Amino acid sequence: MRVLIIGASGFIGQYVARRLRETLGHGVVGTYLSRAPGDDGNTWRRVELTDRAGLERVFRLAQPDVVVHLAAIADVGTAQSEPERATAVNVAATAAIARLSNRHGARLVFVSTEYVFSGERGHYREEEPPRPTTHYGQTKWEAEQEVAALAARWSILRTSIVYGWPEPGRRNFVPVLIERLRNGCHYHGPTDVYRTPIYVEHLTDGIAKLAQGDYPGVHHVAGRDWVSMYDFASAVAQEFHLDGDLVIPVAASRSPDLLGLDCARTMRLLELAHPGLTAGIAAMRASARNG
Ligand SMILES: NC(=O)c1ccc[n+]([C@@H]2O[C@H](COP(=O)([O-])OP(=O)(O)OC[C@H]3O[C@@H](n4cnc5c(N)ncnc54)[C@H](OP(=O)(O)O)[C@@H]3O)[C@@H](O)[C@H]2O)c1
Repeated sequence: MRVLIIGASGFIGQYVARRLRETLGHGVVGTYLSRAPGDDGNTWRRVELTDRAGLERVFRLAQPDVVVHLAAIADVGTAQSEPERATAVNVAATAAIARLSNRHGARLVFVSTEYVFSGERGHYREEEPPRPTTHYGQTKWEAEQEVAALAARWSILRTSIVYGWPEPGRRNFVPVLIERLRNGCHYHGPTDVYRTPIYVEHLTDGIAKLAQGDYPGVHHVAGRDWVSMYDFASAVAQEFHLDGDLVIPVAASRSPDLLGLDCARTMRLLELAHPGLTAGIAAMRASARNG
């Protein structure tokens, strides 16, 4: 099986690329834009998603059976401050990838987000109607609709906040938090912002399943526990034996910010374990490269 991973240089993409290469060997091509990944034996190709000719070249080179599309302006603030670029990269390029996947007879796995939902209630199920309130969420929801309309064979995987060790030079919430607490700095943890955090290796289990098997439709893969960011940070402090008193509870939002995903249906379908927060943070700690 040949796999093309678009956005393989990203935080999640690097884990997915490593995992699929371990299972599938050399038929894995990964793309990057600005951050050329270290040499782990993958075939890497630079592509700018808004360059259609470049995208076509990558498809011709990879001849994929499956395309895993992770590339995006994935930061909510960047998408808000650069809305046109976010729409071009997140929506228009995803539509182009869906068309190219068809032309090459490839199945498309598209990674999306809980931000497609409004955040009024939290714990959203796969079939609930999206109603994004941010430009990032809007672009990802439009991209999902392009995938469903244009790709012949597709899966969409939505996830929540993802944590783990990033490659050097990249950032992730949990390692940044650990560093703060180790340095004796406070973290103001919102008690009214809810998510279902997932450890990146556990998310990779779900993405790898969708890449290797045919599971059409929309799927939710996130952590089992629906927690506030204050609870999340406190659990990190406890698991890493850091001073939990440095995590200060605060009320952050003027409007509800209750996201997080109900994953029960997908976990049954994909026969995945559904680890909770403590198990996820413990797995991250056990794999510590620098912690
Ligand atoms: N991280 C999370 O908590 C989270 C939660 C829910 C959903 N997601 C979704 O998961 C996916 C991956 O997220 P991530 O956290 O791994 O993001 P990331 O670390 O920011 O990686 C983004 C990837 O997209 C590539 N990219 C960005 N703009 C591009 C462009 N114009 N042309 C070509 N490539 C471009 C980047 O390439 P370079 O780095 O080489 O420039 C990188 O490979 C995204 O679709 C995101 O919406 C993430």
